[in-house]
Amino acid sequence: MDLQIELIKRAEMFNTYWQQYLRIKKPTKLYEASQHLPAAGGKRIRPFLTLTSCESVSGEKEKALPFAAGLELIHNFTLVHDDIMDHSLLRRNLPAVHVKFGEPAAILAGDLLFAKAFESLLEISVDFQTFKLLQQDFIDGIIAICEGQQLDMEFESRKTVTEQEYLNMIGKKTGALFELAGKGGALIGGGKPPEIAALQTYGMTLGLAFQIWDDYLDMSSTATTLGKDIGNDIRNGKKTLIAVHSLTHATGKDKKLLDDVFGNHAASEQEVTLVYGLFKELGSIEYAQHRALQLVNQAKDAIAIIKPSDAKELLFQLIEYTIQREK
Ligand code: IPE
Ligand code: IPE
Ligand code: MG
Ligand code: MG
Ligand code: MG
Repeated sequence: MDLQIELIKRAEMFNTYWQQYLRIKKPTKLYEASQHLPAAGGKRIRPFLTLTSCESVSGEKEKALPFAAGLELIHNFTLVHDDIMDHSLLRRNLPAVHVKFGEPAAILAGDLLFAKAFESLLEISVDFQTFKLLQQDFIDGIIAICEGQQLDMEFESRKTVTEQEYLNMIGKKTGALFELAGKGGALIGGGKPPEIAALQTYGMTLGLAFQIWDDYLDMSSTATTLGKDIGNDIRNGKKTLIAVHSLTHATGKDKKLLDDVFGNHAASEQEVTLVYGLFKELGSIEYAQHRALQLVNQAKDAIAIIKPSDAKELLFQLIEYTIQREK
C-alpha cells in the first residue's frame, strides 16, 4: 500500500463527512468562517491515523470515521485560534480565518467547530462503556491541548526553557491529539488492551516528532510549499527544541544576534535568515532532527506487538513521512 494514495483516500472520507455538518446557515459569516479551513484541505493526518489504527487491530475503518472526523474538527478549531495567538496570517495557502473574517468571527468559528466535533462523536456506534471512555479521552485530549497552548505562549516570554519542559509542552499541544487518534482508533476497532496501549504510545511519540519537524519547517521551508508564514516562530520567540538548543549554546556575538532578533516581532526576513543560519551553525537543527529520529524509532518499537498487515505497513510509512515531509 502506498501512503500518499491512502492519505488521499482516507482524507476523502472526512471531506464528505464535514460537508454535511457544516452547511451554511445564518449568520452566514459564522458558517463561512467555520468552513474556511476544513474546505482548504490539510494533510488529514489525524483521521488517517485513527482509521489506520482501527484497521491495524482488525477493525473496520468506517466504524472509526465519526471519531476521526471529531478529531479533525478539533484540530481545525485549534488552528483557527492558534493563528490568532501566533499572529499568523497564512494557513493552508489561504488567509488565516481571523485575517479573512476578523477576530470575533474567528473565535466563534473555532467554537462552532469545537461543538461540531462533539456532534460527530454522537455517531459512534460502540457499546455504552466504550462510548463513555472515548468521550472522556476526547475531553482529556482537548484539555491537554489548552494546557499545552498556554505553556507554548508563556514560554515565549521566558528566557530559557529546558528540553524536558519543551517535550512536556508539545506532548500536550500536539502529542495528545495523535495519542487520541491511535488509542481511539484501536478502541473502536476492538483492539486488546496491549494493542490499544501500543497504538496510544505510537501516537504520542509520533506526535512529538511531528511537532519537532513542524518547528523545523517553520524556518526552513517556503510559504508556498508550507502554506503558512515562514519565520514566525523565530519572530514570536517560540521555544522550539531548535531554539532551546541554540539558546543554551550561543555565546558572544551569536548570543547578541539572538537577543536582537529572536522574539522580535519586527525582525526582517534577512535577520530571520541569519538566525536560521546560526541555528544550523550551532548544530541545533541536526540535534532536533536526531531527537525526532529517536522518537519515531520509539514509535516503531511501540507497535512491535501489532500483527503484520497492510495497515501496520502504513503506520510504518507514516513514521518515515513524519520526519521527511516538506509540508
Ligand atoms: C499543524 O498541523 C499544527 C501542528 C500540530 C504542527 P498539520 O501539519 O497536521 O496541519 P494540516 O492539517 O495539515 O494543515
Ligand atoms: C500548533 O503548533 C499546535 C496547535 C495548533 C494545537 P504551531 O503553532 O507550531 O502550529 P502551526 O505551525 O501554526 O501550524
Ligand atoms: Mg502555536
Ligand atoms: Mg501557530
Ligand atoms: Mg509550527
